[in-house]
Parts: sequence; C-alpha cells; structure tokens
Amino acid sequence: MRPIVIIANTPTANTYALREAVARGAQQSTVPIQVLSPLEANSFHILQSSAVIVGTTENFGYMSGALKDFFERIYYPCLESTQGLPVALYVRAGNDGTGTVQSVTRILTGLRWKLIQEPLVFKGAWQPEFLKNAEELGEAVALGVELGVF
Ligand SMILES: Cc1cc2nc3c(=O)[nH]c(=O)nc-3n(C[C@H](O)[C@H](O)[C@H](O)COP(=O)(O)O)c2cc1C
Repeated sequence: MRPIVIIANTPTANTYALREAVARGAQQSTVPIQVLSPLEANSFHILQSSAVIVGTTENFGYMSGALKDFFERIYYPCLESTQGLPVALYVRAGNDGTGTVQSVTRILTGLRWKLIQEPLVFKGAWQPEFLKNAEELGEAVALGVELGVF
C-alpha cells in the first residue's frame, strides 16, 4: 500500500509534538506512514504517496521557509501526475494563521491536490488539546485512505 507522507517543520518542542501526534493518529490504520521534514521530502516521496499531511508554523504571516522550499522543488515534477492527491493541512501560529492557510491552499490549488478537510489552525497560547486534534487529523486521513473514501 502506498504510504501517507507527513511533512512538517518542527522548530520547537510543541511543533515536534504536533507532528508526532499526527503520526500516532495515522498509525491507527494499516496504511504505512512516512514522517519527513520539508527539507528531507522530495518529489519521489510525493509521487509514490496515497495522501499527504502538510504541517507548518506561521512565520512572518506566511508558511515556513522550509515548506516553501519543498513546494518550489516538487511543484513542476509533481504537477502532471499528482492531480487529485488527497491532502490535509495544519498550521501552528502564535496568534493568527490566516496568511499561512491562504498561501498554502493557493499552492495546493495550483497543484490540483484535493484538500480533504478544512485546514486545522492551532493558534494562540499552546493548548494541550491541540495534540488530541492533531491525532484525530492523522487518524481521519489514514482511515479515509484505508477505506478508499477520497
Ligand atoms: C521568525 C518567526 C516569525 C513568526 N511569525 C508569526 C506570525 O507571523 N504569525 C503568528 O501567528 N505567529 C508567528 N510566529 C510564532 C510561531 O508561529 C510559533 O512560535 C511557532 O508556531 C511555534 O509554536 P510554539 O511556540 O507553540 O512552539 C513566528 C515565530 C517566529 C520564530
């Protein structure tokens, strides 16, 4: 079975914990998962994936530089053959998140990937519940892939 690829930058303990929670949720299904930083991920990971979960911090009102670099590297190599790829997005933002959601979804629209749920924005002061929501996100994507609903 093609893996679900989880791509997220993790500059802090909280953001690392978020990515771990997403992976833990995704492990509730039989679908294999790959967890990568945006700097490690490349077009080959995407071309052989069943779905992608993208996570980023909001920095200066935009996605992380690492995630932007990822999209710049994979955009044209993936454009022809990944249309309709299921994708979910989560953002960790100190206080906003809007600019990041807009900038990432614009790229996802350009790639013609299929956003399978509303982007999840974990904003403001850190809340322990964020981890539960992140785990649920991973589980929802993995079960959807397993059941073939996307
Ligand atoms: C250089 C830099 C720029 C940031 N810019 C924004 C921003 O524009 N909007 C925002 O909501 N948070 C911003 N933040 C806060 C980060 O999104 C937040 O610290 C990060 O997601 C890590 O979350 P944590 O403190 O819970 O570990 C910025 C942080 C850094 C280091």
